[in-house]
Amino acid sequence: MATGHEKLETNIGLMVVLILLVISVGGIVTVVPQFFQGELTTPVKGLKPRNPLQLAGMDIYIRESCMVCHSQMIRPFRAETERYGHYSVAGEFVYDRPFQWGSKRTGPDLHRVGGRYSDAWHRVHLINPRDVVPESVMPGYPWLEENAVDASLIKRKMRVLRVLGHPYTDEEIEKATEMLEGKSEMDAIIAYLQDLGTSIKMRR
Ligand code: HEC
Repeated sequence: MATGHEKLETNIGLMVVLILLVISVGGIVTVVPQFFQGELTTPVKGLKPRNPLQLAGMDIYIRESCMVCHSQMIRPFRAETERYGHYSVAGEFVYDRPFQWGSKRTGPDLHRVGGRYSDAWHRVHLINPRDVVPESVMPGYPWLEENAVDASLIKRKMRVLRVLGHPYTDEEIEKATEMLEGKSEMDAIIAYLQDLGTSIKMRR
């Protein structure tokens, strides 16, 4: 007579069902507690949701695929914290939708690049990186200077983000289009870069 285990090993249908059950339970047990872990869902002190210009800049960062060469995730290793500053913590990314952690570093990590250079440096660097870093392999993005920021969707975007938990006030949303008036895509991406990683005081 077949024992319980033999029945399992000779019945592929039953095996599949039980394997799926085990994987589901395993998955739920590892993933669900993280939704309730305050450290992962609470913004770090001083973290502000991006203003309209920075928000537009983040969209341009995504459109130009800067993430392909730049991570935004400083790991807690000495070699990284000496170079970039305080390691990244989960609460700093609460208002990043979608997050730009990345995993490829052709260029340096950008998580704490905010305030490291002047706006003027970024402008020259983004138009032609070789003008300030002769050995750079980063491509130039001269069109950012010529394109005006697209302000048509900014209010709607902020309203959607508010539903997801970004604490924008009605007034901030009302003034958003005005804030983007006359701004170039270059202004927006620089505003975004200058804000990166500035909510934690860093040690360099
Ligand atoms: C092909 C890879 C590549 C892409 C794509 C790329 N970069 Fe870079 N980036 C680099 C490299 C390499 C460096 C280091 C040399 C230099 O400073 O130019 C760098 C440096 C930088 C720096 C200076 C960082 C520091 O700490 O010195 C900034 C800021 C930067 N990139 C922003 C951007 C932005 C914004 C985009 C998208 C618009 C972008 N990069 C796209 C490769 C890239």
